[in-house]
Amino acid sequence: MYDLRDKLQGAAETILKKKFAVSTTVHFDVSFGEGRGDLTTSVALQQAKGLKKAPKEIAQAVAEDLKQIEGVAEVEVAGNGYINVTLDADILAEGLVLALESCIPKKTRKEEDPVIVEYSSPNIAKPFGIHHILTTIIGQSLSHLYRHQGFHTISMNHIGDWGTQFGKLAVAYRKWGTKPLEQHSIDDLLALYVRFHDEAEKDLTLEDEGRAAFRQLEAGDDALRKFWQTVVDCTMASLQGVYEHLGIQFDFTIGESFYEDKMQSIVAEGREKEVFHEGEKGALIVEFPEGTKIPTALVLKSDGSTNYLTRDLATIRYRIDTWHPQAILYVVDVAQSLHFQQLFSTVQKLTWELPHLEHVVFGRMRFADASMSTRKGNTLKLEDVLTEAVSRASKVIEERGEKIQTDDPEDLAEMMGVGSVVYGVLSQNRKLDLVFDWDKMLSFEGNSAPYLQYTYARARSILRKAHLDHAPLADVTHDFSAQERLLVKLISAFGDTLDTARREHMPHKLCQYLYDLCQAFNTFYSTDEILKAEVPIRDFRLGLTAAASSVLRSGAQILTLRLPERM
Ligand code: ARG
Repeated sequence: MYDLRDKLQGAAETILKKKFAVSTTVHFDVSFGEGRGDLTTSVALQQAKGLKKAPKEIAQAVAEDLKQIEGVAEVEVAGNGYINVTLDADILAEGLVLALESCIPKKTRKEEDPVIVEYSSPNIAKPFGIHHILTTIIGQSLSHLYRHQGFHTISMNHIGDWGTQFGKLAVAYRKWGTKPLEQHSIDDLLALYVRFHDEAEKDLTLEDEGRAAFRQLEAGDDALRKFWQTVVDCTMASLQGVYEHLGIQFDFTIGESFYEDKMQSIVAEGREKEVFHEGEKGALIVEFPEGTKIPTALVLKSDGSTNYLTRDLATIRYRIDTWHPQAILYVVDVAQSLHFQQLFSTVQKLTWELPHLEHVVFGRMRFADASMSTRKGNTLKLEDVLTEAVSRASKVIEERGEKIQTDDPEDLAEMMGVGSVVYGVLSQNRKLDLVFDWDKMLSFEGNSAPYLQYTYARARSILRKAHLDHAPLADVTHDFSAQERLLVKLISAFGDTLDTARREHMPHKLCQYLYDLCQAFNTFYSTDEILKAEVPIRDFRLGLTAAASSVLRSGAQILTLRLPERM
């Protein structure tokens, strides 16, 4: 179908030149709406004004010639000048072959420079915030999208394991700790952290004490180093559990502390290039041109200690030197926009040869459930969210009773629960505020994980009934029904959808596509006979069912969504 589209575009361009003396590029879009053909273009509408002619007149002239092309079944001028082309069924079905190719991950193009996708990046000795849930899930899907399309991809967790929070925690432990450090759970550490902040509001010297302790840590104090290491180990172990639960993986996990000895050379370079200047009280600063409205940033605090920005500068340097990436994507909360503006502007001022640097932002999370939105602060334990999701999924399974078929209700609840959180995040436009709504996420209708899972299981069950694990694509011997037609076109759009979702860093476009596909499949299933159809048609429909399930499976893998064989 795509070959024919090129042909149609070329033909339309030639006609426009011959009959109307205009040179323009013509684009045919795939049309999914009923009665609008398979491919459509609005070129006549665009050209009408310049040619001082009615769009319909232009459209008719073009349509006349397109009818001659082999593989075109029908050309119609619709509305006030759209040209709608309907294709022969076998030509349309060519798109299915391409879609099946898109299901298989492309071979990694190792010769190309890598794309680094940095995500998750929680802080140690600080709460795992809601935004950390979002970056973890969104980042993972982006890294999968790149990898699936053959990009040499490096997934990276940039752990916040360095900074004043360790000084504060050390002070809190010294003052209020009641048991050996190793016996502290994450929650105990968090309680110490929270207490520090509560008490610091009353006792203004505490903050200074915390900063002093961090300075000592940076200077290499033995006891503090040990303290730091224990806290890091304990937090990392618990994080690992959550990552496994979600199926999250990284090629590299590198903490900010790794860059500790890599900052001084950058500080020296910045001074030498006169990008960094002395600020107040001996601090080192970087300023940005007035027009940019970016406020001055600190590179060294007045006590000489480094900060978040210094570490990010060293990180970029290290990544360039080590991997020579073509791009670095930072999947981070929108609240850090200013930080990334300052970071990207600083490295430009340093005149480094840079890869494409992008802050992939996402909005805030709102809760539909009042009990969750009244929670104090912006923290929510990911493990708690997953546990709650799985237990709610269990209840849904119980309630549906007979309507659900499964040999392993526990595993199904796990799949549905975890899947609904992951899909609930990914199915929303990341640039807008996200809404967290249990009922919607766990619903069997609508754009939700259970709906996808259910549709996949339905397709698999049809194939099982035909005693097939996989049905190959069969020749087209009949005219498509409207449902078949739509399903064929949707399946064919898989490759393009992957491209768009990756290029724009918008995983929700893949979700929306999978949802549309499920709807088309379910309509096809309820309207057209599959197993009971006559033989050549039956074969084609089974092949179509298998193709739909392959696309669903491949899409779900990219989104880290598990799918059940039965449900
Ligand atoms: N650890 C930081 C936080 O949780 C996020 C790190 C983002 N990445 C970076 N290179 N600065 O706020």
